[in-house]
Amino acid sequence: MVPSSASAACPWVGSTASAPTKAGQVLGRMTLAEKVQLVTGAANNGPSAGVVNGIPRLCVPRLVLNDASAGLGNRQTGTTAFPDEIAQAATWDTALQTAQGRVLGAEAVAKGVNVVFGPGVNLARNPLNGRGFEYAGEDPVLAGKTAAALVRGIQSQHVIATVKHLALNDQETHRTTVSSDADERVVSELYLAPFEAAVQAGAGAAMCAYNRVSSVYACESASLLQGVLKGRLRFPGFVVSDFMATHSTGAANRGLDMEMPTGKYYGAALTRAVQAGSVKASTLNDMVKRVLTSMFAVGLVDHPPRKPVGIATTPTSVSVATRVAQEGSVLLKNTGVLPLSGSTQRVAVIGDAADGDGAQRASQGYGSAHVPQFSYHPRVYSPLEAITTRAKQSGSAVTYQDGSSLPQAVLAAALAEVAVVFVNDVSIEGSDRPDLKPRSGTCSLTGGTTCTYSSLDQDQLVRAVAAVNPNTVVVLQTGGPVEMPWLSSVAAVVENWLPGQVDGASIAPLLYGDVNFSGKLPVTFPVALEDGPLKTAAQYPGVPDARGVPHVRYSEGLLMGYRWYDAKKVTPAFPFGFGLSYTSYRYSKVRLVGTSTGVNALVTVQNTGSRTGAEVVQVYAVPPAGTGEPPKALVGYTKVALKPGQTATVTIPIPNRAFSVWSTARHAWTPVAGCFLLRAGGSSAALPIASGLSRGGKVC
Ligand code: BGC
Repeated sequence: MVPSSASAACPWVGSTASAPTKAGQVLGRMTLAEKVQLVTGAANNGPSAGVVNGIPRLCVPRLVLNDASAGLGNRQTGTTAFPDEIAQAATWDTALQTAQGRVLGAEAVAKGVNVVFGPGVNLARNPLNGRGFEYAGEDPVLAGKTAAALVRGIQSQHVIATVKHLALNDQETHRTTVSSDADERVVSELYLAPFEAAVQAGAGAAMCAYNRVSSVYACESASLLQGVLKGRLRFPGFVVSDFMATHSTGAANRGLDMEMPTGKYYGAALTRAVQAGSVKASTLNDMVKRVLTSMFAVGLVDHPPRKPVGIATTPTSVSVATRVAQEGSVLLKNTGVLPLSGSTQRVAVIGDAADGDGAQRASQGYGSAHVPQFSYHPRVYSPLEAITTRAKQSGSAVTYQDGSSLPQAVLAAALAEVAVVFVNDVSIEGSDRPDLKPRSGTCSLTGGTTCTYSSLDQDQLVRAVAAVNPNTVVVLQTGGPVEMPWLSSVAAVVENWLPGQVDGASIAPLLYGDVNFSGKLPVTFPVALEDGPLKTAAQYPGVPDARGVPHVRYSEGLLMGYRWYDAKKVTPAFPFGFGLSYTSYRYSKVRLVGTSTGVNALVTVQNTGSRTGAEVVQVYAVPPAGTGEPPKALVGYTKVALKPGQTATVTIPIPNRAFSVWSTARHAWTPVAGCFLLRAGGSSAALPIASGLSRGGKVC
């Protein structure tokens, strides 16, 4: 749709010239005031997070910027509350992630939003991170592919995606003061890699983080923003500050293009700085050109924001959300109690996350990623409602206890054949989890985000239920790993993450086997928090320097997540990449074929069970000795649907980067000499087949 205002005054509208060319044309006609306006947050009385005023005389639409990592949040109403990003990552399904990006982008358009803040790609270095639910797990390849898929989907709707938070924003404790200090190799190989993938997918914007990186605020860091992002990664888009994360007008000289939410340091101060020469006119031009380039690149200028509709959610959105929740749910343990069958006569559902008003259930994490007023249109089912409806079809009855009375919960469990206990953990932006124990509660979003935690000891609840019912199924609704001190006494465990408004609609078909499990863990679940790599206060929460600035030292280096557990031979409760299903798979062969960009791994896998399923085929590279790399790293994966008995050979492209390390001496990627072993399978801890590969794609 070409706006009617298109005319000789705006030759770039509807033009087929390249985005930078059109951006240059607009820039050439702009006044200083207009330029400053385009890089500064404006007064915002609307439901979005931020606004940048448009320039009607040049047909430049205003920007309406909204949080959206799990649906259009902030003060929007009538949108879909999707599963949180950790669940999106747990699908390992890039096509589905792109589909989710597409429906999310369409809802943004329906709400008049044309820039979304998301996806988030900070790696799960610390399982206590209060925002772990907003990110895509602990592995740079998984997080990068997830983010790239989401970016493609979002931007297909003429909406700019914003990858965040650059960089090393890996904890909430001291988030606005802490300095994250990591070696160049660690930063390049792990923490920057997912940003790079999002940039390559065309992300139009990147949000710089609250924290400092090596003592310098991320939004003030020339080496991060100009050196790495715009230099080495060739990012053509714009950098927007996290909210109130701008610290000076001079940040413009160091790579920060847009201040949000208002112009404390930009706006009038930036105008004065340009007039005084402390910010060069050419610098402002570059900032503006970047904003315009991203606008043109996604087609936003030719598709200016529409008048917002009341209800943006659609049946397609809800069905995509349901698929994400289902494909992302991970079956961690099953002695055979699942799927629930028609002969199960009495089911006891226990736990407050199973019931209640959707807005009150802890079905999403809290903070800016929360969708507070999602649409109930046409209908939202609680897990209790959905399980009750499904049970009726099988002729069985459901009883419910919220768990607040232990004796009553135990009685209900004792009288049932199967007890399904919902255990939830309330995660919230702004504070880290105190430990890996599940805390239930409710949070309010008015006047900042505060939570009231219930005194319910959910571990005690599970233990008590399991003591009277051997068929106890635990459904975890958490944003990340929890310790499971009761694991050996329960029959099944499902990690359902924070599934958003489709919590009920998605879980009942999984429990009853109408839908198979196919999710895999994007994070390691340790037996106990202490098993992980963060052992000292210097690693977490940080130690203040002489100026009182807390520093967090990433001294575990590359040994983060499963890389640590592998190297230290510590067995976690559930490893990265792990997930069961109602069927079984057999891996028989991996063959490597060199390509111009790396190698293709051709992996043959068969569904050896009796149910249709989808398997995430994972390939890990084991480096030769002496590289300083961890024992193995994920280098590629794909998800394949297989009918019972069906065999498929999937092709997994692996880029040459997978066989390189970052050289701190050369400040560049350097190919490794020697033989890599490529191992394939369905979990980082179960890789039954392997083939060797040496430099240049030759089999060794
Ligand atoms: C968060 C960002 C978010 C922004 C706008 C900040 O507090 O860190 O992730 O995009 O608020 O809501």
